[in-house]
Amino acid sequence: MGKQRILSGIQPTGNLHLGNYLGAIRNWVELQEEYEAFLFMADLHAITVPHDPAQLAENTYKVAATYIACGIDPEKATIFVQSHVSAHAELAWLFNCITPLNWLERMIQFKEKAIKQGENVSIGLLDYPVLQAADILLYEPDRVPVGEDQKQHLELTRDIAARLNHQFGTEKAPILKIPEPLIREVGARVMSLTDGTKKMSKSDPSDQSRIDLTDAPEAIIRKFKRAKTDPLRGLEFDNPERPECHNLLSLYALLAGKSKQAVAEECREMGWGQFKPLLAETAVEALRPIQTRYSELMDDRTYLEKVLRQGNERAGAIAFQTLAKVKDALGYSKPL
Ligand code: TYM
Repeated sequence: MGKQRILSGIQPTGNLHLGNYLGAIRNWVELQEEYEAFLFMADLHAITVPHDPAQLAENTYKVAATYIACGIDPEKATIFVQSHVSAHAELAWLFNCITPLNWLERMIQFKEKAIKQGENVSIGLLDYPVLQAADILLYEPDRVPVGEDQKQHLELTRDIAARLNHQFGTEKAPILKIPEPLIREVGARVMSLTDGTKKMSKSDPSDQSRIDLTDAPEAIIRKFKRAKTDPLRGLEFDNPERPECHNLLSLYALLAGKSKQAVAEECREMGWGQFKPLLAETAVEALRPIQTRYSELMDDRTYLEKVLRQGNERAGAIAFQTLAKVKDALGYSKPL
């Protein structure tokens, strides 16, 4: 039997932050050893909110460089651009026609983003999880490694696959494989530095709320220094009254590569004045090699293009096969 497969992606909107790294990319780096990995830049998703055409292609390259800088190996994993494989958009249309509207109106992310945007909400923003279902199901992955915030979208993906199988397949010969989410307990929900009850997010208007992977050491130190805390002495995990404390300790554990127990012991007696510089220094050191590799890669466009060309070929070979299978099941004639 061949390797099992994973698939995941990130939107190239704004800079990637510690949440994207700890909730997603870092896990992919481990998983690529054991699984056949398909990792992409979700640039079709990036235009579901107002975007700047002058930045889109550049941001897509930046995310590709970030994947590799964080340790994704293009020889092991397939890295590709969503919009280069047109099967994504095409399968999304087919799914649109079998997905009930009220499944999408329930999506938490849609509700949150729609509120932020007021009047200016596109159909794309509502339809986004259907495109995500297409992204996933085209590659027939076994697992989809994501952060906690994507859980509902993965449930919808499973529902769409099951509905298509039920309507157009048979129990013995399902058309699409139904994937499982893979959400790690630690790192799956990195919280904002300005509010420990809100997730760290690219779209938060406050730059202080997140650590970007490309932040200079001074910025990292300043942001942690100003991060919201509480007046209590002694640091602890899992106290619901102290969400910021839990978040910052968890970041320290992940970035230092220490267990929760070890960090709980180490920091039990500490005050913020002692802990914050320790956390900042740990983050600076953890990000340093990634940042060095990232700037090298951004200066080597030829190499990045080679990786994406190869990724496009490998991804397309699988995606168009699945698309053909679905079109066949829906009764389409073959192109002549
Ligand atoms: P995006 O671009 O918002 O986030 C990319 C990945 O980072 C994770 N993440 C977090 N994890 C922990 N803490 C946080 N604060 C945090 N913020 C983000 C996300 O869970 C995600 O794994 N719709 C997706 C992109 C996408 C996709 C797909 C993912 C499109 N098609 C198919 C998987 C499979 C998104 O907007 O992720």
